[in-house]
Amino acid sequence: MKTISTFQRLKNNNEKIALLTAYDYSTAQVLDKAEIDGILVGDSLAMVALGYENTYNISIEDMLIFIRAVARGAKNSFIIGDMPFLSYSLSVEQGLANAGKMIKAGANAVKLEGCNEHIISLVKRCVESGIPVLGHLGFTPQLMNTIGGYKIQGKTSEKIEAILESAQRLQEAGCFGVVLELMPSDSAKYITENLNIPTIGIGAGKYCSGQIVVTDDILGKFTDFTPKFVKKYMNLHDEVLHGVQEYKREVKEELFPSEKESFILEEEEKNKLKCCITE
Ligand code: KIV
Repeated sequence: MKTISTFQRLKNNNEKIALLTAYDYSTAQVLDKAEIDGILVGDSLAMVALGYENTYNISIEDMLIFIRAVARGAKNSFIIGDMPFLSYSLSVEQGLANAGKMIKAGANAVKLEGCNEHIISLVKRCVESGIPVLGHLGFTPQLMNTIGGYKIQGKTSEKIEAILESAQRLQEAGCFGVVLELMPSDSAKYITENLNIPTIGIGAGKYCSGQIVVTDDILGKFTDFTPKFVKKYMNLHDEVLHGVQEYKREVKEELFPSEKESFILEEEEKNKLKCCITE
């Protein structure tokens, strides 16, 4: 069984940490079988699974449905629930209550974006209450409108130092790790080397303690857009398309279902029907 200690042990042993996202039961089963180090039920599901343009339109109640599905499929994995937009910014009490709902739904930890006084207090309260927290810095999609779009972060030494300072504050508050999103490899390297807890990169290069990507991106299932940092290991979209087209053709040409996929009526009963029909 993987725990937060697994992440720290992997970092200490200089072994990279491999995380992926999952939103449903069958994907979670596959990731579990592959013994992936952790599964994030990311709020990216708003775009990838539900077709929204961004991650704003997903509620804590929606997230709980997906966390429960993943928890049913991934019995041995470490599951991280991503706290959605406005589910933790109103007050520490609101954040703690919603983080608790995620844990009760089957998550082992929660992820929060950003770092300010409020986030630091919330991280402390969660950790004190037995809820492990993964931080998230650099590009934080929930702040996209205030950041001013999908922009690479940490491009100057001042900005890198500011991200490092936030990461150190999250570390002190009790985060077991921090996601670094969308920044130059050397910026992430500098931050990683100045932290004790692991960094998990997405679009942040190879020097992070581990990596996370959206599973649907690397399997080529989600094709609306493909960020530069995504490597496609499969082209599931085309394979699924091919399968669906073949099914359609076989139905039209009466090749499916064949006898193999059909249930056969006993000859005697068939004869009786013939009698009835011919009578
Ligand atoms: O929502 C998400 O999937 C994320 C990424 C870090 C993968 O936050």
